[in-house]
Amino acid sequence: MIREYVYRGFERFWHWTQAGLILFLGVTGFEIHGSIRFFGYEQAVRYHSIAALSFLTLIVFAIFWHFTTGEWRQYIPTWTNLRAQVEYYLLGIFHNAPHPTKKTVLSKLNPLQKLVYAGLKALIIPVMVVTGLLYMFYRYPQRNEVLSLNIGSLEVIAVLHTIGAFLLLSFLAAHLYLITTGRTPSSNLKAMITGYEEIPQDHEVAAAAHIASEPVPSK
Ligand code: HEM
Repeated sequence: MIREYVYRGFERFWHWTQAGLILFLGVTGFEIHGSIRFFGYEQAVRYHSIAALSFLTLIVFAIFWHFTTGEWRQYIPTWTNLRAQVEYYLLGIFHNAPHPTKKTVLSKLNPLQKLVYAGLKALIIPVMVVTGLLYMFYRYPQRNEVLSLNIGSLEVIAVLHTIGAFLLLSFLAAHLYLITTGRTPSSNLKAMITGYEEIPQDHEVAAAAHIASEPVPSK
């Protein structure tokens, strides 16, 4: 085993802040929706707006970080091993089968994670942001530029925003279970707190060998 620095400082800050904000947006959002009662409607609306603006700010920094570090490439979906990964979570995991994907610093996500995280980043979160902003502008239509959007009805916006909220919170629940399925039940959690993870040496060596064997691009 080698102790590898897998998750950098900003990555961990972004991960935990995003998790907290999504949970808080879920609670305040479902209070606005009328499903629960916690802060009171008026406060829930105020808190939801503040959290939404914080979320948007975080997203801007996260996009910048992903592109400047090249980490966005970790999320490019792949079919390789996808089926094996799904079978592992449905069956193999209950029989102590080996993990079909070997984690390395250069490839942190398994094929199912790549697919799901890419879907969140490219589809669900953008839908939440766009419908959330339209919702905001519709609710506070005194701004001139907002009136020019000429939104006729809240219905489609509200339904899409609520479906997105269900999907995000379902993802959060599944994610909580899946973080316990690492090398040990707490190894994934510890890695996202400290940044360090114990990775079998042969995985890293294999990953390095794979890179070394790639042809060097000609100029
Ligand atoms: C940048 C992102 C977001 C923005 C701008 C935003 C904005 C809004 C606004 C303006 C409302 C209506 C408040 C009112 O009635 O006055 C709302 C409702 C709601 N939001 Fe968000 N929101 C965002 C993200 C989220 C997230 C991530 C979740 C859940 C995880 C969520 C869940 C909800 C729910 C469930 C409602 C109630 C929908 C309904 O009953 O029609 N929102 N949001």
